[in-house]
This record gives sequence, C-alpha cells and structure tokens, in this order.
Amino acid sequence: MNKTYKLQLSKEEMKQYGYQVIDTIVEHFNTENTKHPVAYASREEMDDLFKIEAPKKAANYKDVLDFVTNKVLPNSNIVTHPKSYSFVPGPSNYVSVMADTLATGFNIFSGGWTASPAAAELEIVTMNWLLKLFKFPPIKGGGIFTSGGSMANLTALATARRQVCGDDFSKAIIYLSDQAHSSNIKAIRVLGFKKEQVRIIPTDIAYKIAINKLKNAIAKDRLEGFHPFCIIATAGTTNTGSIDALNDIAKICRAEKLWFHIDGAYGAAAILSKKGSQLLKGIEKADSLTIDPHKWLFQPYEMGCLLVRNHKWLHQTFTEKPEYLRDIEGNTSEINFYDHGIQLTRRFRALKLYMSIKTFGLSAFKKAITYSIDLAEDVENLLFCKIKLF
Ligand SMILES: Cc1ncc(COP(=O)(O)O)c(C=O)c1O
Repeated sequence: MNKTYKLQLSKEEMKQYGYQVIDTIVEHFNTENTKHPVAYASREEMDDLFKIEAPKKAANYKDVLDFVTNKVLPNSNIVTHPKSYSFVPGPSNYVSVMADTLATGFNIFSGGWTASPAAAELEIVTMNWLLKLFKFPPIKGGGIFTSGGSMANLTALATARRQVCGDDFSKAIIYLSDQAHSSNIKAIRVLGFKKEQVRIIPTDIAYKIAINKLKNAIAKDRLEGFHPFCIIATAGTTNTGSIDALNDIAKICRAEKLWFHIDGAYGAAAILSKKGSQLLKGIEKADSLTIDPHKWLFQPYEMGCLLVRNHKWLHQTFTEKPEYLRDIEGNTSEINFYDHGIQLTRRFRALKLYMSIKTFGLSAFKKAITYSIDLAEDVENLLFCKIKLF
C-alpha cells in the first residue's frame, strides 16, 4: 500500500522530523530573549496566511513543518520572554517540555489506575509534594491536576456544593470579592447558580475583601432565610496581586460553617519564598485551594491543580460507575483520577512537574520565585524613585 494513505512516517523520517522539532525548540529557548515578545496580526492577515480548505492530498512533511516553523510560531506572543509584561507570564522549562513530549509520544491515559499505574502513582506523589508545601493534611488531603486555574476553580466549587448543599442548592449563597478572578464567576454560572445567589463583596484600599462587609452580607442573608455556603478568597489577585485576609476569612468560615475556597492560581506559588510564605499565612486553612503550575511553577501549558483537605470529597463528588469501568476499579488505594474530577480521558500532566522538580530540585524553584519577588520589588522601588524625582 502507498504509504501516503497511512498516518505514518518511516522510522528515518520520524527521526529527522523529531530532530528538526527539537532543534527548533532548543534554538527558541536560547534566542527568545532577542525576539520581540508580542505578535501583532489582524484576522485578515492571518486568514491570508492560513485559510485553506482541508487538503485532500498529502503534502511533503518537511514543507508542512517548515511552514509551521516560519509562519505559525512567530505569530504568537512569547509568554516565556523576560519582557513579557502584558499578560500573566507563562514561564516554562525545557525538562517539562520534554516530559510533555514523552507523555504525548506514548499517549499515556492518565484517567485510571489500570490504564497507567505509573501515571496515577506520579500524580499521587507530586500531589503529596504540593500538599506538604501548602501544609495540607498529608494522608487525608488530596487533589487533582487540571488543565488550568479555571478548571481547578470549577472542580473546587462543584465539590463545595456537593459537600455542603447536597442536591438542593436553591438557597445557597456564595461570596467573593470584586477582585476575584472571572473564572470563579464563570464556574458559578456553569454550575447553575443564579445571579441572585452570588454576593460580590467590595474590597478595601489594599484591594482585599472588606471583612466587615463580608460579615454583614452573611448575617443579612441568614436573616433573610438564605443558606451562606462558600467564601472564595483570592491569594494573589490578577489585577494587583493583593492577598485577602486568609486567617480572618478562615475564622468566619469555621464559625459560620462555610466552605473556604482559595483561588491561588496567580499567587500561591509564592509560598516557596520566605516573603511569600509570610504573606500567605492562613492558606493551609482552606478546604480547597487552586494553584496553577503553568503560571509561577514554571510549567508549560496546560497545568492547573486543585488541592483539598480531604481526598474523599473529590471521590464523593465525581464518582460515576458505568458498566464498562466497573471491572477495572481496583482497590481503593489505587486511585482512578477520573473519579476525582470532571475529565475521564486525561493527559499525563503529573510527569512534567515530577521530572522538573526531580531534575532541578525544589531549591531551584525556591530561588527562582524569590528572585521574581526581589525583581518586582526592585522595579517598584525604581518606579517610586522616578515618581519622586519628577
Ligand atoms: C487568580 C486567578 N484565578 C484563575 C485564573 C485562571 O487560570 P487559567 O487561565 O489557568 O484557567 C487566573 C488567570 O490569570 C488567575 O489570575
């Protein structure tokens, strides 16, 4: 059979293809600082470059690869660029890029234990590293890797609703500040809450949720017969990096029996630095915590993470037992991550965090985060001096 009818390359072609891809990536890692971090292009320009009907005939694989290298890759922002200030940065690292390549190359199914005991085990192991870092209960605690912070917030709020409200959430009220990330509102909407069930609490002059206003809103809702059930605090708001008063909110949640979710997608990784761990005191009291390794833990997209105080909460929220999965259930210590979140088929995300932490060591991550904070403070001081000069 003519090989162009098969979705395959010869072994030699595969190697050449792969070497060219690796060369392109390595060259990018070593020259990105000299490139322009932002790509500008209109829809018309992109249509002119790329718009075609799906080709019926095969093309030369080298031509396709060259076209992508020369036309697609330069027309994207470089979010790993040291001058990428216009967007939440996406610092990456080469080891994790290669880990993603291996995970994709072997197309490992990271949903159930039986499909890949090693993938499930590495997710457990890396999750335990994160649980320890955030001082969550080591054995009882749990979590799941998601595509990003938005999915982690959605997974958290679905879990909170199931645990606190059960099936009837008609009177449930959720509280978050006017600085909370939009993904939380999106999640609330996806979960079927009405607008009237959401309280957007104003922030104080430091852009932290105003504690008295939060307490008053809860008291008013109770008086009116509603069911306050969850507070979403932010550990690092996207607009200014402000951190809500986590200990105060934890106290309110304990007294009022509310679920305490913290969205730490932007800022929680700062716990690896001395200054950050001071600022994040109280983060360990959350019932659920979103972190986003594809932001400040130097992982390539897509990698978010949800941590919970009790792994059973995830299991109780997401388990479904279709017939075809019953015979691969295994014993309870053999975790099927499809029972801990929304996705059934999942890519092997844990591998990149595992390999990069194992290769560079946690201390390298600590240094990188400490350096980022020092750098931000230097820039702030510089700006402040300039403002004073003028
Ligand atoms: C505080 C916060 N939460 C959630 C998100 C959403 O995360 P993702 O873009 O990974 O879905 C972001 C993204 O910037 C964020 O800053």
